[in-house]
Parts: sequence; structure tokens; C-alpha cells
Amino acid sequence: MTGEEIVALSKKHTLFEWAAQSTVDPIPVARAKGIYFWTPEGRRFIDFNSQLMCVNIGHGDERVIRAIEQQAATLAYVNPTMATEPRARLAAKLADISPGDIEVFFFTNGGAESNEHAIRIARLVTGRQKILARYRSYHGASAGAITLTGDPRRWTSEPGMPGVVHVLDPYHGIERGWSSADESLAMLDEVIQLEGAHTIAAFILETVTGTNGVLVPPDGYLEGVRDLCTRHGILMICDEVMSGFGRTGEWFAVDHWKVVPDMITMAKGLTSAYVPLGAVGLRRPIADHFATNVFWGGMTYGSHPVACAAALAAIKVYEDDGLIENARRMGALMADLMTDLALRHPSVGAVRSIGLFGLIELVRDRATHAPLAPFGGSSREMAALAEFFRQEGLYTFVRWNTFFTNPPLCITEGEMREAFAIIDRGLEITDRAVN
Ligand SMILES: Cc1ncc(COP(=O)(O)O)c(C=O)c1O
Repeated sequence: MTGEEIVALSKKHTLFEWAAQSTVDPIPVARAKGIYFWTPEGRRFIDFNSQLMCVNIGHGDERVIRAIEQQAATLAYVNPTMATEPRARLAAKLADISPGDIEVFFFTNGGAESNEHAIRIARLVTGRQKILARYRSYHGASAGAITLTGDPRRWTSEPGMPGVVHVLDPYHGIERGWSSADESLAMLDEVIQLEGAHTIAAFILETVTGTNGVLVPPDGYLEGVRDLCTRHGILMICDEVMSGFGRTGEWFAVDHWKVVPDMITMAKGLTSAYVPLGAVGLRRPIADHFATNVFWGGMTYGSHPVACAAALAAIKVYEDDGLIENARRMGALMADLMTDLALRHPSVGAVRSIGLFGLIELVRDRATHAPLAPFGGSSREMAALAEFFRQEGLYTFVRWNTFFTNPPLCITEGEMREAFAIIDRGLEITDRAVN
């Protein structure tokens, strides 16, 4: 099919995500390799967002493809109440690379399902109902996970699941700036007091917040959250669906602060999105609760053998190719290139990154930090920047007044500079909007 035919038929018979259907203009994609993908007509794009921050090892890796083929040929599926070798080996491998005593795993089909099960586990283990979550967060689109979500994607699904209480983040937007770790922790402590600690099962938070702004927590914040949760018997759930698997230059973002949450949720980079798979990782004492108590949870495709085999192969690629080290090395280069952009382009109001997890915030005014698009909205200039990136063959995620710099972890220095040369020219468009 031609690109035009693919788009027309897809638009006729499918719904596209998070959009009024008359406004969507999808890129038709036929194939992908490394950090690039191509349209059916052969137009090449740099994938500077690893699609949805998930193809961490890069596209088209033969080692993962072969593992999927072999597992599909040997045993494509069994009822998840049975045990398989890929399930056993993957869980043991995850226990090796996960922090502390997180060594028991429940396999799901993605991020939202992982978060749904994490809060279910927290409620079963603690016997409490309430869940704290943060406003600047995304935890998935299913009924419970969208209620946990703090950003505007939640609004049309309210009132949602009962018992969720949102708290403020250390970051308050480009105009208000950051609270210190101590200020944020004091606010959290007060909310816990007012809600009643004994009613709160868990606090779920993205270790490094993803779509809401690549928000790297101030030092001391995660350690303080850990202390507060421990003190009050509240389970700490770190959502590492986006920040896990090398994205930040460590296996998991919590490793930067040496914090061990009670549960970690993961997906995306777990298989590098070659096939869907998510997981909840539990500390041993949490898992032990289910030795004699029923674990009330399960799905038809849980612990899917093909997905577990894909994850094992993907994890081996991270290791064999030193991708986490490369994320650190290329992350340092990316941070330098971002700082350079901030110095030369008046529309760049803030740059943030950790490893290869990065974001640029654009402003209309460097003194007031007025954002180039409103909270939850867009603007003529942001749309023009997105269009420029598309014309120039750079795919990335443009959202509100921000855009992301999240390439696959296999990126080389040459490829990084190629992408930043396009970004550099694109920012001339947004610079013209600055007062
Ligand atoms: C931090 C975080 N949690 C959860 C999810 C939901 O994952 P999924 O789309 O696989 O359900 C996402 C997806 O972007 C995410 O970024």
C-alpha cells in the first residue's frame, strides 16, 4: 500500500489516540532500523523520541526478532497458571537488575495494567484504600490508572476510581519554578496527616516524571518520600514505565538516588516495545503476603511466553552493547548540546535531561517565563515547530510548550549532532515569537 492509502484506510476504520479524528495526520511507517524509520515511499525520519519513549535498544534488532521467532515456533502461548522457561528466566534476570530486594514479578501487558495491579496489591497488603498520586503525572489510560494520572488526560474520566488523592509536585511549571525537596516533603507530610496515614495504602510516583516534563526530582526528595512512607506504613510505588531500562543512564531511575521502593512498575523498555509486556516488581516482604493470602489478579495474556522471550533478548542487548553506559555517555553530550541551545536561542526557557531522557521548554518571554503554549494547549508557534521537525525528517514528541529529546540508547555522536542541527534551525521559528 502507498502511505496515502495506509493513512486513508486507517483513518476510515480506526480511532487514533487522544485526538479529534478530523485533526489527525499520522506519518505512515513501513520499516525501521536503529534510530531511523521510513515511510512506504522511502522518506527517512530520525526517531528522536524512541517512538513513545519505549524503543530503547533501537529498531529492528535481529537478536530480539530471532528470540521472538524462536519462542513463537516453540511455544507461542500457554495459560498463565502454567510455568514456562522464558517466564522463569526473565523473572530471575529482573531480580538481578532491580534495586534491593525487589525480586518477585507479576507480568502484565503494559504500563497501565502494571499500575492497576500495583495499587491492587497495595490495598490487599495494607488493608487500606487511599492512594496518593501527583498532579504532574501520567500512569496509563485504563480506569484506575487514568484516575491516578494527574494531568489533563484524567479530566474527562472523572470522578473515576474512589480513594485517589493528588498532591503537588516539586515542580510547579516554568513560571512558578521548583520547590526544594524539604518544602515538597513538608507538603506531603501535611497531606498524609490531613488524610489520615492509617487510611493510605500507597504513594505512586514517576521516579523521573515523563510526559509531564522530564522532571528530575531534587536530591533528597525520593529519599524523603521513602522515609515518610516507611514511617507511616504507606507503600512506595515507583512508576518506571518510562524512566526504566537505561533511559536515565541506570537500569532504573531510582538507582541514581539508591532508593528501594516497595514496588516498581515497568513496561516500554522491558521489551523495547518489540511486543507488549509490563511488570510489577515487588520487594520480597510484600510478595510474602501472598504466600497464604490469595493474589486476586490475572489476565489471559499474563506472562506471555513470546513477550518474556523478547524481554530476555532485549535485556541481553542492553548488556552486550553497553547501552546503559552509552546512555550516560551520549546523555552527557546531549546535555551539553541542550545547554548550548539555551545560550543561543531566546525561546529556550529551560532544558532538563538525565541520561537520554530530555526535554526543552519554550517561552515567549525570558524574564517572565511565559510559556510559548498554555498548560494543556498549543499555539501557532509550537505547531509551526512541530511541522518544521516533520518536514526536516525529525520525529519527536511536541507537547504544550515543550518538546522531547529521547533517542534510542544506541545513538551515536554523529546521529546526535545530526538531530541537534535540525533542532537548532527549528528554534529560529520559535525565537521570532519572543518578546
Ligand atoms: C510513566 C508511565 N506510566 C504508565 C504509562 C502507561 O503505559 P501503557 O501505555 O503501556 O499502558 C505510561 C505511558 O506512557 C507512562 O509514561
